Amino acid sequence: MVNGQWSMMLRPLKVAAGTLLLLCFALQTSAQGLKDVFARDFLMGVSLSGRNVRIDAEQDLIRRHFNSVTCENAMKPASLHPAPDVWRWDEADRIANFCRENGIKMRGHCLVWHNQFSDWMYYDDKGNFVDKETFYARLKDHILTVVNRYKDVVYAWDVVNEAMSDGGENPYRQSKLYQLCGDEFIEKAFLFAREADPKAILFYNDYNETNPRKSRNIYEMVLRMRSEGVPIDGIGMQGHYNIFGPSVKELEDALSLYAPLVEHIHVTELDVRASEEMGGQLNFSKEGISMTDTIQALHAQQYERLFQTFRKFRDKIDCVTFWNLHDGCSWLGEKNHPLLFDKALQPKPAYYRITAEK
Ligand code: XIL
Repeated sequence: MVNGQWSMMLRPLKVAAGTLLLLCFALQTSAQGLKDVFARDFLMGVSLSGRNVRIDAEQDLIRRHFNSVTCENAMKPASLHPAPDVWRWDEADRIANFCRENGIKMRGHCLVWHNQFSDWMYYDDKGNFVDKETFYARLKDHILTVVNRYKDVVYAWDVVNEAMSDGGENPYRQSKLYQLCGDEFIEKAFLFAREADPKAILFYNDYNETNPRKSRNIYEMVLRMRSEGVPIDGIGMQGHYNIFGPSVKELEDALSLYAPLVEHIHVTELDVRASEEMGGQLNFSKEGISMTDTIQALHAQQYERLFQTFRKFRDKIDCVTFWNLHDGCSWLGEKNHPLLFDKALQPKPAYYRITAEK
């Protein structure tokens, strides 16, 4: 038989072998979870409520895809410590125990935030502001108690959340914390957290963190604290984005600004809304929009761009956390379609896009 005939006969075999290889690859990637696909890049995290860890199918989804967990609300001061002598540990303990049983690490969120805070710490019996020393003593007690309880499972803490403003003259948010203490409460919180757990890595965490003006303010605040020896190890970029922004350039600019400044960058609360709203503000519309093929495609493209960019900074970014497990339990409401899994826990096009191009 001449050569040409041989290769004609072999062609179907080659095609079959190729298809088999592709099939094996597809099966392998579908059997893996996000944490395996991104194993060489960063930890993959998710924020959870106590409800998520009570549902078997959700537990399976968490175990398969994630190797870092954040409590969505359960470790915030208002949830844990609503009154001076009242501690509510149930929900945080439930999530922490799930993580302990499954060998999953936790990011603690959060020790100081102007929202969902233990507001009683500000006031005396008559409703007047206490002095700074009294406030710091209460804050220190809170931070030491919480950090100590979870230090076996929590490897990182968002120590201060959202202390910078979104505009205006003053770079600092004009919160009650600021009215009482100026910006000093920020460094105090970091000092207390380091005292409580010298091993945990400590983050400043904020939203709209790719906005050029706000990122400059965050940069300057962190730079000043580090030059003064305040124990801050990382910047948390919340990552509440949408299908239109931030652009790759905006994201790269922010990452390039933060990267030389700190040892660690974490993307702490990633979601991509199918609307023009962005940021971490709590006043947004839950009405959302109906999903179309075009929006689904924009959503997948934005996730692809984000992960390509995160990967460029993989030496600095060591964890990417999604804010909620699936669209059905998103804080944005399912009609904003922000996550990788739909409410039936099925992966969406964005999931396949970020896992396929690896
Ligand atoms: C949100 C929770 O997801 C909601 O359930 C809660 O009602 C409000 O807080 N930035 C943060 C998170 O740092 O703690 C917020 O979480 C979302 C914005």
